Amino acid sequence: MKKIMGIIASQRKLANGEILVKEAAAASGAEHELELVRLTDLNLQTCRGCYTCLTPGKPCPLPDDLYFLAAKIKEADGLILSAPCYALGPSAVVKLWADRILALAQMADDFWGKPCVVIGTAGINGWEGYTLSGLVQLSRLLGLDVKDAHMFIGALPGEVLENQDHIERIRQMGRALFGQGRAERQGECPTCWSDIWKFPQPDRKVCPFCGQEAHLVSGPEGVRWELDQPGRRFEYENHQYHFREWLPGKVSEYLKRRKELSLIRNRYKGEYTWVLPEQKS
Ligand SMILES: Cc1cc2nc3c(=O)[nH]c(=O)nc-3n(C[C@H](O)[C@H](O)[C@H](O)COP(=O)(O)O)c2cc1C
Repeated sequence: MKKIMGIIASQRKLANGEILVKEAAAASGAEHELELVRLTDLNLQTCRGCYTCLTPGKPCPLPDDLYFLAAKIKEADGLILSAPCYALGPSAVVKLWADRILALAQMADDFWGKPCVVIGTAGINGWEGYTLSGLVQLSRLLGLDVKDAHMFIGALPGEVLENQDHIERIRQMGRALFGQGRAERQGECPTCWSDIWKFPQPDRKVCPFCGQEAHLVSGPEGVRWELDQPGRRFEYENHQYHFREWLPGKVSEYLKRRKELSLIRNRYKGEYTWVLPEQKS
């Protein structure tokens, strides 16, 4: 019996993201138990950047549901993540969760290589912005093995499964969870599947998520992209180095340089006007 954890980032009940998660789980082909969590039902607080969680053995001090969610991910054999596009990106609760990556990365061995499929929903084709790239990169930062990812278009709750192509596509995603994952699609970064590129120089493109580089080359067959070194940011060794060595190193550096840095910071102490709504002041 496989345990599938469905993580839903829309507050709307029985809406597009939720029904897609249920359809994918049903199509997984595995004898399974589906547990669901709606991120907006959890108490997820904003990371306060204290770096406590980078000290071995010290958890994040925020009294919220982060470790409940982490335990649920750890227990699961596979994950299905869905989030709606709000204002051209994943809904804010996803970012609240993603911003806790420093604490979650300390548990990478609990999550590493767990299969997951990633579902985005958006109301208008072409208005989906960076939703899918954002969701996929969060999954990769957690160390999950992203087997498939797709953006579904449908504005009204339920509308997304009126379409037979969508039904077939989500079932395919369900089968991918414990089966064969998909390859990158045309235009996606071959390393991490982002469909967003930066162009730091006219002939270069760089994936802003994993660092994959590519060059535009012209040959007898015309102009084409040539891919360089794959981005290695999401590989285990680099992930471990960044979150368990480099960042803790910065904390030690800060402790040594605190006085020197306070000379700069203290110049900005003063009588500034910080505003708050009346009931909070
Ligand atoms: C606050 C808000 C912002 C939205 N912004 C976008 C957007 O930028 N682009 C888009 O295509 N759809 C946008 N939508 C539509 C939702 O993405 C769409 O209805 C989606 O299917 C919702 O998923 P759900 O049914 O799982 O809640 C927005 C909806 C809301 C409520």
